[in-house]
Amino acid sequence: MSELREFADARAMNRALADAIVERLTAGVARNGRASLVVPGGTTPGDLFDVLATTDAPWKDVWVTLSDERWVDPASERSNERLIRTRLLKDKAAAARFVPLKTPQAHANAAEADTGAAIAAMPRPFDAVLLGLGNDGHTASLIPGADGLSRALDRSDAALTRAIRPPDNTGMGERITLTLHAILEARWIALLIRGAEKLDTYRKVSTGDDVLAAPVRAVLRQHAVPVTAYWAP
Ligand code: 6PG
Repeated sequence: MSELREFADARAMNRALADAIVERLTAGVARNGRASLVVPGGTTPGDLFDVLATTDAPWKDVWVTLSDERWVDPASERSNERLIRTRLLKDKAAAARFVPLKTPQAHANAAEADTGAAIAAMPRPFDAVLLGLGNDGHTASLIPGADGLSRALDRSDAALTRAIRPPDNTGMGERITLTLHAILEARWIALLIRGAEKLDTYRKVSTGDDVLAAPVRAVLRQHAVPVTAYWAP
């Protein structure tokens, strides 16, 4: 189940969310000598990353990876890796260790073994997992109707990453995603949402049981890991 925290503006939300993430990373390093952070791509988190990069998290002992990646060149405007490298891994956060999900292989399904092994080498359970939300009910690249979705949602499957092919009419293109199993191996999960439409989506997917129709429900409607949704207009 998730708790919703509403903020008056994005600046206040990003400050509170950055503080919460730093607290978790600091606790993780105090506990294990290293900590891990999962972040989403997309258009929403850039401003948060700018704030996070200036914080005093114990960055040199922090491992950062993505919730999901589009199968595009890391130099592409659409690359989530590019977003992380330009907006998060700078200032103080430049000391963090980044685990990319894009490999040189032509297709994401050929990269499941390598990316899974790279994620397996990270400190887990993840200390902090930040996720985005799509208005179609997706999170990470757990996308309704996609090829690969049921495998990625199957918690009895030990794989940490899975290739995803969204329906052609979405124009979303091939991707790789952390599996539900990997996402829920977390001490804390936050969902980053902005705007009236996403708040409406969040409310819709916070009830109901149809996970294939809105895969984010598999994260929101479980009881093992606390989830906090951060919202600002
Ligand atoms: C991606 C993501 C994805 C994203 C949501 C929200 O590569 O697109 O990681 O899961 O978080 O689609 O995206 P926006 O922030 O662009 O609305």
